[in-house]
Amino acid sequence: MKIFVDTADLNEIKELASWGILDGVTTNPTLVAKSGYSFTEVIKKIFTLVDGPISLEVVSEQAPDMVKEAKKLVASIPQKYRKNVTIKIPMTAEGLKAVKILSEEGIKTNVTLVFSANQALLAAKAGATFVSPFIGRLDDIGQEGMQIIEEIMEIFVNYDIETEVIVASIRHPIHVIEAARLGADIATVPPGIIRKMVTHSLTDAGIKKFLDDWKKVKK
Ligand code: G3P
Repeated sequence: MKIFVDTADLNEIKELASWGILDGVTTNPTLVAKSGYSFTEVIKKIFTLVDGPISLEVVSEQAPDMVKEAKKLVASIPQKYRKNVTIKIPMTAEGLKAVKILSEEGIKTNVTLVFSANQALLAAKAGATFVSPFIGRLDDIGQEGMQIIEEIMEIFVNYDIETEVIVASIRHPIHVIEAARLGADIATVPPGIIRKMVTHSLTDAGIKKFLDDWKKVKK
């Protein structure tokens, strides 16, 4: 399973990319606002840090405006990074229209705010490169988020659908394991959760013991 980081924090992206575990990045307006960086700074830097799909979200609501905004975003990225530009489009009827146009023009799309298998199926039919089901937000309202990942994976396998599934709105490390067990293509994971995935108290205790014992060895 590919791992994307779900953040616009450039320092975090740089650090996690240096671990060799990042396959891409997803951002959204909330994450850009939280990062403290301007959107211009994010766009300028982010593509230099990770060589993989980078999702940037449009904020227009009508299809023609979404398409215009998407093309402007693509044009603002230096040619050598354009293959990685992925336009995040909200899951609405207008969004589907925009996805159809952009996919016909060879622009990668990531349909976001997906909360059901039917929405994922429609996004895939419109030509989405990626769909992003938000599992944590479903858990938040008392609906089992992982259930829709299971449904989407089953449907996409049944029909050899090429659209890749990005499990989004991940809240804890167990979500990542469950996504991988269900065969999801990608999990987009907040930096704090990637840090939790890397540590284990027994690893820390083991290192301490080795270092303590090493002091006792005659050199
Ligand atoms: O990339 C968007 C998605 O992962 C949002 O997560 O935590 O705001 O529900 P969250």
